[in-house]
Amino acid sequence: MNVEDLHKRLTSAMAGRYLSSKDVTGIDPLSRTDIELIMDCTRVFKLEFIPSGEKKLPLLQGRSIINFFFEPSTRTRTSFELAGKALGADTINISADSSSMNKKNETLNDTARTLNAMHADCITLRHSSAGTPMMIARMIKAAVINAGDGMHEHPTQALLDLYTIIEKRGRAEGLDVVIVGDILHSRVAGSLIRILRKFNANIRLAAPPTMLPAYVERFGVKTYHDFDEAIAGADVVYALRVQLERSAAAFIPTLREYSKRFCVNMARLRQAAEDAIVMHPGPINREVDLSSEVMESRQSVVEEQVTNGLAVRLALLSLLIRPREDLAKQTRLTGRG
Ligand code: NCD
Repeated sequence: MNVEDLHKRLTSAMAGRYLSSKDVTGIDPLSRTDIELIMDCTRVFKLEFIPSGEKKLPLLQGRSIINFFFEPSTRTRTSFELAGKALGADTINISADSSSMNKKNETLNDTARTLNAMHADCITLRHSSAGTPMMIARMIKAAVINAGDGMHEHPTQALLDLYTIIEKRGRAEGLDVVIVGDILHSRVAGSLIRILRKFNANIRLAAPPTMLPAYVERFGVKTYHDFDEAIAGADVVYALRVQLERSAAAFIPTLREYSKRFCVNMARLRQAAEDAIVMHPGPINREVDLSSEVMESRQSVVEEQVTNGLAVRLALLSLLIRPREDLAKQTRLTGRG
């Protein structure tokens, strides 16, 4: 398939639809219709663009994207950068080391004003403080994508996870999904629980009592301290990393003790549904979150999640940046505006 055909396929997947918000800062502000639109576009990128061998689909030529990462990242940052470049946009990366905010005490407010004055089209932002992307989004004209804020949300991870579940199991509705690990400190869990609830999956959370947020049952999930009980018959086993950099070690006796009870190993996986898939957002602590044997097994879809992460970010950038171009064209044509 050549670039022109891909462009046609994408336009037909968009079918004149737009996202209801200029930003993606969390899962709650996205409607089911928004998410379905993102899934439809992701499918075109995953099944048609990525395998086509075409490296560029220059929909965003002349557009600029700033990737602003105040915390370490491999997968998320690389996929945003690759996606922006594949779509022909100019992408710039700013890290904690190179930003005035960290080194020269510039306030978040002033940083946002500076970014606004640069007239970038999209800012992707990872920050250690919860709520930062929401605050910046309200202050600037560019689209803002939350690439992880503290222990709060990581919406693009949840979107790629939902895509992966639907791709592998045909739907999310009615599936039994067990999320195991350091739920308390996990922004991945924060967004995943929200998106799975929207799509009516049954959610089981398995963790030591110290790693479960208080009153989490209010989100409509079941909690377990016994992972063996939680995994029985599950369709999806989603393992989270013990977040040592967020003091997780203070919440468990030792990593060895933790892994004995909560590591996803082959013996435990056999208790799940026969065709259960195993997921993890990465980076993985092998033998703590997942055993190497599980990671290399045919049930693991961890690498597929990474590819789907690229597809989702291609879709999001196209959806968030393009409409304004379309609208501007429309305005020029009709003389309205
Ligand atoms: C996660 C993150 O940074 O929130 N990783 C990712 O984006 N794929 C999860 C983690 O660090 O454990």
